[in-house]
Amino acid sequence: MSPADDGPWWRGAVIYQVYPRSFADGDGDGVGDIAGIRSRLDHLSALGVDAIWFSPWYPSPMADAGYDVADHRDIDPVFGTLAEAEALVAEAHALGIRTIVDVVPNHCSDAHPWFQAALAGGPDAPERELFWFRPGRGPNGDQRPTDWVGEFGGETWTRTVNPDGTPGDWYLHLFAPEQPDLNWDHPGVRAEFEDILRFWFDRGVDGIRIDSAGLLVKDGTLPETRPGRPHPFRDLDGVHEIYRDWRRIADEYPGDRALIGEVWMPDRQRFANYLRPDELHAAFNFDFLGCAWDASALRESIDGTLSAHAPVGAPATWVLSNHDVTRHVTRYGRADTTFSFAAKREGTPTDLELGTRRARAAALLSLSLPGAAYVYQGEELGLWEVEDIPYELRQDPMWERSGRVDPGRDGCRVPLPWTGDEPPFGFSPDGAAAPWLPQPADWKDRTVRAQTGDATSMLELYRMAIRIRRADPALGDGTMTWLPAPDGVLAHHRRPGFTCLVNLSDVAVPLPPHTERLLASGPLDDDLLPPDTAVWLRTAEPTPAGPGTA
Ligand code: GLC
Repeated sequence: MSPADDGPWWRGAVIYQVYPRSFADGDGDGVGDIAGIRSRLDHLSALGVDAIWFSPWYPSPMADAGYDVADHRDIDPVFGTLAEAEALVAEAHALGIRTIVDVVPNHCSDAHPWFQAALAGGPDAPERELFWFRPGRGPNGDQRPTDWVGEFGGETWTRTVNPDGTPGDWYLHLFAPEQPDLNWDHPGVRAEFEDILRFWFDRGVDGIRIDSAGLLVKDGTLPETRPGRPHPFRDLDGVHEIYRDWRRIADEYPGDRALIGEVWMPDRQRFANYLRPDELHAAFNFDFLGCAWDASALRESIDGTLSAHAPVGAPATWVLSNHDVTRHVTRYGRADTTFSFAAKREGTPTDLELGTRRARAAALLSLSLPGAAYVYQGEELGLWEVEDIPYELRQDPMWERSGRVDPGRDGCRVPLPWTGDEPPFGFSPDGAAAPWLPQPADWKDRTVRAQTGDATSMLELYRMAIRIRRADPALGDGTMTWLPAPDGVLAHHRRPGFTCLVNLSDVAVPLPPHTERLLASGPLDDDLLPPDTAVWLRTAEPTPAGPGTA
């Protein structure tokens, strides 16, 4: 957020996502950890981010890379200790960087003591009420209670075995079988998570990222999903009551603690309901993330986003990538530049040079729009999706559960390259075990070391853009105005005196009158902006309500 803004930090922050397994490995086991993050905080400080969001680091059997949490109040030994996490939060704060932890309320791990007690105690165990245990259908109870399809594809119920060895009830899991869904109708579940929020707020974290935030409440009558009928587990109205309770807790703490929801919701109005003034502070903009590299589609997404957020007074967020989606350098180099889980396929050709050019322009677009911007680790290095990970090394449950149709999410989770000419590129100390996923040899040009000081690198582009954004009162939270522009070109103005132009057409276009060229995503051709290039300009204010303004 620019210093001139005095609103809360989360309205205009640049928030960097650290995926701890893949950021930096301090202890040499080939898996990233807190020691590694602490040793590389200088990178985030030099990048200029306002906050870091840590994907889950809690004790977990890692059936879903830590999104199967066995204990929200501790740290998995593979990542370090609670004391190290506390030190990391303090060190980030000392650098002026806020911290956000990931809380996973829809489900827990099957190793969680509650679930273990529910299994061990048999059909009458009171702990079963904390989950969704149901008898099967059919005379022998051997048919699933519903035919719901899970979020990773595949079935959503697994049958248990009673302590005496006989076949037992089934339990619900919208994700992998190792992630039993919690029953949010149970007051014990609510109390537990309220306590978890306090646990982390008490440790000084500035925000909570809420995993799968729209799925918590289920229709307890377990109807099948039917077109035209209310969905049995997506976006049920009851979920808002939970977030109103959470908001009261966040508001009790000093210093603007923020709740940020992972809400995949195509309906923008329903999405905005999560952002009402007494609910979450912000939510990830997956509409923008999934949007095609196309001027009218992007303009529609930006307008739709801003007009959905305005009535509830919430800031928009701008997200290009995260640990669940194909990296955008790869996406933007494909014939179809949209993202959706349903359309992911092995072996879709991509032009990485084109994708990189577009990713550079997209960075300047997203960092110049009103609201908060997210950077997923490695996007500042221009990393692409690693699409040739050998089958036997793939770890993401999505790969097997989709029947090997969806390549899974490992390709965007490959450990970061820091220094040197060959793997592990400084990810691990010398003599360490191999990184948990193999890094492409071609990443030698993508290391932090190789890009530092190279004015044409993706890293220096991000550093400069974030530096300008921090200093310029026009950027961060606020409003914007579209300017008239040729077909296929997006031009928007932010007061005072800032204009961003993005050329998504296939011809070079002239720059509008300006007093200074602040930053461009690629070389300009005199005063012409080439295709797939963006520029930030210092300009006069547009005349009010000129033609084509919105
Ligand atoms: C969210 C996470 C994803 C995880 C899923 C289940 O979508 O971002 O990585 O697999 O929830 O927790």
